[in-house]
Amino acid sequence: MNAQDSADKALLTESVPALLAWYDSAHRDLPWRADPTPYHVWISEIMLQQTRVEAVKPYYARFLGRLPDVEALANVPDDVLLKLWEGLGYYSRARNLKKAAQQIMVQGGEIPDTITELCKLSGIGSYTAGAIASIAYDKPVPAVDGNVLRIVMRLLAKEDDIALPQTKKMTEALLLPVMPSSGSGRLNQAFMDLGATVCLPNAAPKCDTCPLSQICRAHLQGEEMAYPVKSAKKPRRIEEKTVLIFRDNNRIAFRKRPNKGLLAGLYEFPWMEGHRSPKEVLRYLKGLGYSALRIRPIEPSKHIFTHIEWHMTAYLVIGDDLEAPGDETDLIFAKLSDALTLYAIPSAFSAYIKYCKENEPLV
Ligand code: ADE
Repeated sequence: MNAQDSADKALLTESVPALLAWYDSAHRDLPWRADPTPYHVWISEIMLQQTRVEAVKPYYARFLGRLPDVEALANVPDDVLLKLWEGLGYYSRARNLKKAAQQIMVQGGEIPDTITELCKLSGIGSYTAGAIASIAYDKPVPAVDGNVLRIVMRLLAKEDDIALPQTKKMTEALLLPVMPSSGSGRLNQAFMDLGATVCLPNAAPKCDTCPLSQICRAHLQGEEMAYPVKSAKKPRRIEEKTVLIFRDNNRIAFRKRPNKGLLAGLYEFPWMEGHRSPKEVLRYLKGLGYSALRIRPIEPSKHIFTHIEWHMTAYLVIGDDLEAPGDETDLIFAKLSDALTLYAIPSAFSAYIKYCKENEPLV
């Protein structure tokens, strides 16, 4: 180990008792911390990926109410699962949870306690494996996410690019030897809370309340905002769509998305590629066998995914006694009374949900 590595290790070692003491006095009271069983930790950590704590809370309670254990999760119908996840986004997380639950049931029903076994489960990578092993099983392993990367890069004033996978690997390797033999779950959660409330991303950190401010190299240099270094992502692809709220007095048209890819298996309003005129929409629907329709433009909207943006124009299209066409299209006509309870509709369409209401004026 060279002198720099030794100094880094000494600083990390010194940060551990400070973080544990801070956690004991300042940690957030969060629902998944009340009874941190492996199942509870697993579900909460998956929900918390890319999703804010406040947004997760109601989903977490409802999910556990309906699916209290691994066996219930392994057996849940896909539509029920997606409905429980509706609005949380990144739906592959839900599908992977079910797949992993089925893997666990085949292995006897116990959630594994080692990083190697946990990482074999669908949707579990080194971060989630570390969180489950440390928080639920008290194993001395790190759980490195964006918060931990930011805190460690600032503490050690390291300029490694946190967008690169090797920086995460390096940080895991730096933390592993300093994990306490007991209390690693508290340490990992201290990083999470410090990252969420003190050592903020994209904003000036609140160093005056930080337990590490006396030893943080970035702070001592007055350069907190210079860390972490993160290379720019490539710009999102823009997709233009024309969304059709196609309904009569009782029913509304949905389409089930394919079982693979973005928003797999969810329900959507039918749409056409590009920004279309009313004439083009009517021509398209006529081609499917629908005529005598009334059409009016409704509000455009935008939805941002990780790599894609949808820019949507939209029309309300009204017919009388609509029926699903033959089998050439995948249109489903849902009863308005069922539309919002039986079908998981992604938030990308949230601007148009109000048009599924039974007494929405049609023209
Ligand atoms: N973010 C990710 N995991 C978390 C946890 N267990 N508690 C709080 N915030 C988190």
